[in-house]
Amino acid sequence: MCAFLKIIMSVHVQNSRMTTTKLRQMKANGEKIAMLTSYDFTLARLVDEAGIDILLVGDSASNVVCGNGTTLPITTEEMIFLTKGVVRAAEHALVVCDMPFGSYQVSEEEAVRSAIKILKESGCDAVKLEGGEEILPAIRHMIKAGVPVMGHLGLTPQSVNQFGGYGLRAKEKGEAAKLLKEAKLLDEAGCFSIVLEKIPAALAEEVTKAVSCPVIGIGAGNGCDGQVLVLHDMLGLNQGFKPKFLRHFASLAQPVKDAVGEYVSAVKDSSFPSAEESY
Ligand code: KIV
Repeated sequence: MCAFLKIIMSVHVQNSRMTTTKLRQMKANGEKIAMLTSYDFTLARLVDEAGIDILLVGDSASNVVCGNGTTLPITTEEMIFLTKGVVRAAEHALVVCDMPFGSYQVSEEEAVRSAIKILKESGCDAVKLEGGEEILPAIRHMIKAGVPVMGHLGLTPQSVNQFGGYGLRAKEKGEAAKLLKEAKLLDEAGCFSIVLEKIPAALAEEVTKAVSCPVIGIGAGNGCDGQVLVLHDMLGLNQGFKPKFLRHFASLAQPVKDAVGEYVSAVKDSSFPSAEESY
């Protein structure tokens, strides 16, 4: 390929890349934002090619990839390792990496250090972290240091031991008012987006209208600026998990099992590999 064509193609890829500015424009234009989690190169490439706006390397990797019961055990190094593959796959989508539990709660300084490490070593575009007022000073420092930050309110799975489960949040007036106030604070601090997880749809819509940054919902109704789901859940790979908010856009668990079953049989009865599949 000639050098000129290479330059034209790289300019095209750069122009088609999602940015935090474009996400704000999408909110202003009423254009919905589609976000999914991803944890590896192969699936992230397919998801990116299918037109996703944001790829989130969620700390749900702790459950989905590592098989842990919660998001708490996953480390910064493990998140960076997974994010590198997703970054290599993304030609269009903005890549956001979740800051894992313990990487930003101890001090503002440690939070900024962790965020910069994640950005530098993984190559992602932004980080996401859970919480409201209690992590606001850390968020302010990160943004001041040039790190794009996505907030996360409502059900924040890193606090599962405090909540005592994964139930609906902000049902009561007091918690709803606190959430609305915290969303405004995150917005004013400069978060480029906020995820709202598992809260009443009416409250999510109120928050979405009250803040200037795009709001992405999961289990938060249809009034948000966009939606996010865990990829393995929406593909129907995770058979035992079907909360009310989750739609299966495919049912891939059985096809995967069927394909593997056929492979096992073909190996056992020596029909694989055939002469055509041999050198
Ligand atoms: O870790 C994750 O997958 C998330 C999404 C559910 C928003 O935080």
